[in-house]
Amino acid sequence: MSDQQQNQLWGGRFSESTDAFVQEFTASVAFDRRMYRQDIQGSMAHATMLAEAGVLTDDERDAIHQGLKEIRAEIEAGDFQWSVALEDVHMNIEARLTDKIGITGKKLHTGRSRNDQVATDIRLWLRDEIDLIDGELARLMTGLLDQAEREAATIMPGFTHLQTAQPVTFGHHLLAWFEMLKRDRERLLDCRKRVNRLPLGAAALAGTTYPIQRERTRELLGFDAVCENSLDAVSDRDFAIEFCALAALCVTHLSRISEELVLWTSAQFNFIDLPDRFCTGSSIMPQKKNPDVPELVRGKTGRVNGHLISLLTLMKSQPLAYNKDNQEDKEPLFDAVDTLAGCLRAFADMIPAIEPNREVMREAARRGFATATDLADYLVRKGVAFRDAHEIVGKAVAHGVDKKKDLSEMSLSELRQFSDQIDDDVFEVLTLEGSVSARNHVGGTAPDQVRAAVARGREVVNA
Ligand code: ARG
Repeated sequence: MSDQQQNQLWGGRFSESTDAFVQEFTASVAFDRRMYRQDIQGSMAHATMLAEAGVLTDDERDAIHQGLKEIRAEIEAGDFQWSVALEDVHMNIEARLTDKIGITGKKLHTGRSRNDQVATDIRLWLRDEIDLIDGELARLMTGLLDQAEREAATIMPGFTHLQTAQPVTFGHHLLAWFEMLKRDRERLLDCRKRVNRLPLGAAALAGTTYPIQRERTRELLGFDAVCENSLDAVSDRDFAIEFCALAALCVTHLSRISEELVLWTSAQFNFIDLPDRFCTGSSIMPQKKNPDVPELVRGKTGRVNGHLISLLTLMKSQPLAYNKDNQEDKEPLFDAVDTLAGCLRAFADMIPAIEPNREVMREAARRGFATATDLADYLVRKGVAFRDAHEIVGKAVAHGVDKKKDLSEMSLSELRQFSDQIDDDVFEVLTLEGSVSARNHVGGTAPDQVRAAVARGREVVNA
C-alpha cells in the first residue's frame, strides 16, 4: 500500500504520512477483520437505504452491492490483501470497493462515519455470536436434563462444607447445575435485546444532513429499534460489558461444576468416570488420567472475569462521544465470546458422557451418617423437641463413629440406648431411599420431584 493510497481515505488534511510504528500501533485490522461479514452486511443495507432515499442512484447501489459481494467472496477464498496501512476492516473493504468499482465506491460512506459503522458491526457480530452461544447453552442444558432423568433415583451424599450432610439424588444435583445455566440463558437473551439496536445514522456523533431513513436500515438489518441519541449511539459499549458480565457469571458456574467433576473423578471420591476422550495422561506417571477439560474450563474463568474488568475500565470516565479508546473494546469481547463458546461446547459434549459409579456414590452416602437428620425428624414426630432430638442423634453418631457403624447398621436395642422413643419403624427412615423420597415437594430431592423438574426444564429449554 503506497502512502498515496493510504491517504486517500482521510489524508486530505495531512501534510506528512503517518509514522510507520504509529500506523501499526493504531491499526485494528489484525483483529477487527473477523467482522468482515457484518461490515459488508451493514454497508449493503446502508446503500439500499441511500438509494431509496434518493442519495444514490439504483445503478450506484447495484454496483456497490455487486462489489461488496465479490469482496466477501475474495475474503472467504483467502484472496483478499489486508493492509495495516488501511487501519481497520472498514477502510480495507471500502478501499477495495473503490479499486473495483471506481468513484461509486467512494459514495458508500455518504451519511455515515466509521463511528456508527463500527458500533453497528460489533452489534451485528455479537448478535450472531449470542445466537450460537444460545444453541450451545441449550444443548448443554438438554444434556443435563437427560442425565438427571436417568439418575433421578441414584443416591449420593449431598454436601455442606464438603462434609457429608444428607443423601440427595444425583439427578437433583445435576438439576442444580441446570438452574444456574437457566439463569445464564435468561441473562444472555436479555442482553441480546440491548445489543439489537441500530447505531447507524448517528454518523460521526451528531447525525447527518442527508435524508436518511434509519427505520428502513433498522428493518433491513433486523434490529429491534434504533439507538435514540446519536452521541450515545456511537459511544455506548454497555452491551459489550453486559455480555462480558453474563459470560463471566456463566463461566463461573462452569468452574463450579468443573471443580466437582475434578473432585469426583479423583481416586478418593471415584463418584464418576469421564471417558478418555475428555482426559489426558501424564508424560511421566503412567497411571494418570487427568480431567483436563473441567480443569481448563475452571482455569478459563480468570480470563473472562478479566475481560469484564477490561471493558468496565475502558469505559470509565470516557467523555462523549466516540474516542479511539473504544477500539480496545474488541479483543476482550472477542475473547470472552470465544472462551465462553468453547467452554460450553466442551461441556455440552462431555456432560452426556459422564458415567456415574452408582455403588460408590451410594456407599459414600451410607458411610457418612447422612440420615442423621432423618432420625432427628423421626424423634420429633414421636414428640421429642427438635433440640433434644439433635442431642440424642449426636450421641448415636458418636457411638457409630466409635463402633464404625452407620445408624442403619445399629440394632434396635443399640439405638434405644439413646432414646426409648425409637421403635422398629425407625429403619424405614434410616434408609437412604426413605430419606430422599421423604423430601417430596417442589425443589426437593425426591426422585419424583426430580422427574417433574426435568419435565418443567424441558419446557423451558424448548420454549
Ligand atoms: N477501528 C476503529 C475502532 O475500532 C473504527 C472507528 C474509528 N473511528 C475514528 N474516528 N477513528 O473503533
